[in-house]
Amino acid sequence: MNELPGQLPGQLLVIGGGRGIGAAIAACWPAQSTVWTRSGGVDATDPAALQTAFAAFQSRHGAPFALVHCIGDFAERPLLGTDPATWRELFASNVDSVFHSLQAVVPAMVALGRGRVILFAAAGVDRDRAMLRAPAYFAAKAAVVQLARSLALETAPRGLCVNVIAPGLIDHPHSHQDSQRRMLGRVPAGRLGHVDDITGLVRYLLSPAATYLTGQVLTVDGGLQA
Ligand SMILES: NC(=O)c1ccc[n+]([C@@H]2O[C@H](COP(=O)([O-])OP(=O)(O)OC[C@H]3O[C@@H](n4cnc5c(N)ncnc54)[C@H](OP(=O)(O)O)[C@@H]3O)[C@@H](O)[C@H]2O)c1
Repeated sequence: MNELPGQLPGQLLVIGGGRGIGAAIAACWPAQSTVWTRSGGVDATDPAALQTAFAAFQSRHGAPFALVHCIGDFAERPLLGTDPATWRELFASNVDSVFHSLQAVVPAMVALGRGRVILFAAAGVDRDRAMLRAPAYFAAKAAVVQLARSLALETAPRGLCVNVIAPGLIDHPHSHQDSQRRMLGRVPAGRLGHVDDITGLVRYLLSPAATYLTGQVLTVDGGLQA
């Protein structure tokens, strides 16, 4: 799976690809990837900043072949212990940034009549159960799933495929390692995930083999019992 595809039919735009999973995805196609980060000057919670950045991108490359959105801050605290500022920050990072990114980029892909969109949720978010560890974060990720499902139906007639990857505990230098170590016993596979566990799936989703796959949540979690 990791061999597919060597080259993409257009540019890959990774929003939030400065480190972690997004950086690993961009590194799969170094010559075809554009990465936006907040520290690099594009704050994805700011619609004007996205519009400006996308105008520059489009004048150089036209519409991207693929948009991957990899932003999503995490906070582990109970619902009644979540203060309003944290709630707002989690929704700005996980949901507002998705909404504004889609609005800035996807119309050009629709006009082109082809493309792939990948958003990131979190393992368990599409299951019918409470997520006591981080309820505000999981509520925000549930909103991402709904946005993706709606966009998938809206854009399928225009040649787009929109899917969600729901990672479990993916280890990288900036991941939440204390929380991951505590949860490790609940992973039947017996190990934390690696960014390569995600990039293999991304390679597939951006390949010609995946043109009939849209509106899905693909969980990569080693069987995590959250
Ligand atoms: N790692 C895991 O185990 C795990 C598990 C479940 C779900 N996920 C989800 O998977 C996705 C990727 O996770 P990750 O661990 O790779 O994330 P990460 O290490 O936190 O990296 C996030 C990236 O997004 C950028 N970013 C953050 N806020 C931004 C903003 N407002 N505008 C533009 N860029 C911004 C950061 O750049 P700056 O440093 O410049 O801000 C960074 O490059 C996220 O949606 C996360 O919620 C991850």
